[in-house]
Amino acid sequence: NLGAITIPVVVHVIYNNANQNISDQQITSQINVLNADFNKSNSDLNQVPSEFSSLIADVDVNFTLDQVIRVSSTRTSWGTNDAMKFSSNGGSDAVSPNTKLNIWVCNIGGGILGYAQFPGGNSATDGVVVGPQFFGTTGFVSAPFDKGRTATHEVGHWLNLRHIWGDGRCNRDDFVNDTPKSDAPNYGCPNYPVNNCRSNDMSMNYMDYVDDACMQMFSEGQKTRMRTIFLAGGPRDSFIP
Ligand code: ARG
Ligand code: ZN
Ligand code: CA
Repeated sequence: NLGAITIPVVVHVIYNNANQNISDQQITSQINVLNADFNKSNSDLNQVPSEFSSLIADVDVNFTLDQVIRVSSTRTSWGTNDAMKFSSNGGSDAVSPNTKLNIWVCNIGGGILGYAQFPGGNSATDGVVVGPQFFGTTGFVSAPFDKGRTATHEVGHWLNLRHIWGDGRCNRDDFVNDTPKSDAPNYGCPNYPVNNCRSNDMSMNYMDYVDDACMQMFSEGQKTRMRTIFLAGGPRDSFIP
C-alpha cells in the first residue's frame, strides 16, 4: 500500500484570445475538483444511489499545482493529434512527464471536451488535454460541463481507466469487477435506475459520459486499477519518490 500519492501538475494554457487565457483562479478551481474527486470529498457524494454507495472509493491521490505556462498562439483549434504538446508547433513542451502530470488547456475543436494518454505511451506526449471552457468551475466555463469533471474523467484515463461501458456493448469490459457491464455511454443526467445488460448502469461514475453534475464517483475496483500502475515496475512508478 503506497498511502497518499501526490502528483505535481503542470498546466499549459495555450490561448488564441483573452477568454482562452484562463485565470489562475480558474486553474485553482480545477485542481480543487481533482483533489475532491480523487479523495472522496466531493460535496455531491450523497447523489450516489444506495446500490452503489458502498463502492465509492477514496483513491487517495492528491494534486498540487506545480507551475502554469502560458503560450499565445495564432492557432484557433488544435484537434487530437498532440500538436499542442510541442513548442515547435506553437504549443508547449511537456515538463518532466515522468514525475509530473502535464495538462494542456487549449481549444480542441470538433465538440471534444478533452482527451488523455494512457500509461505506457511516449513520455513527450504524456498527459491530458482539456478545452478551456470545460476546465475548472469558475471563469470561462460552459454548462453542463462546468464542474471540472472533464479533467477528472481524463485523469482517470491517464491513470489507466477505460470507459465504464468498456467501449463496446455488454460483452466488452472495462477490466474492473465492481463496475456493472453496460451497453453504451449515458448522456445528460439519467434517472436511476438505467438498466442495461441485466444490471443497473453505474452512470454516475466519472468514466461515463453524463453531465458534470451527474457524475460523483470512482469505484473501489477502479481505485485498485489506478493505484496498481504506481507499484514498482508499473508504468507510473517513477511518480513515487
Ligand atoms: N473525452 C470525453 C469527450 O470529449 C470527455 C467526457 C467528459 N464528460 C464530462 N461530463 N465532463 O467527450
Ligand atoms: Zn473518455
Ligand atoms: Ca466492469
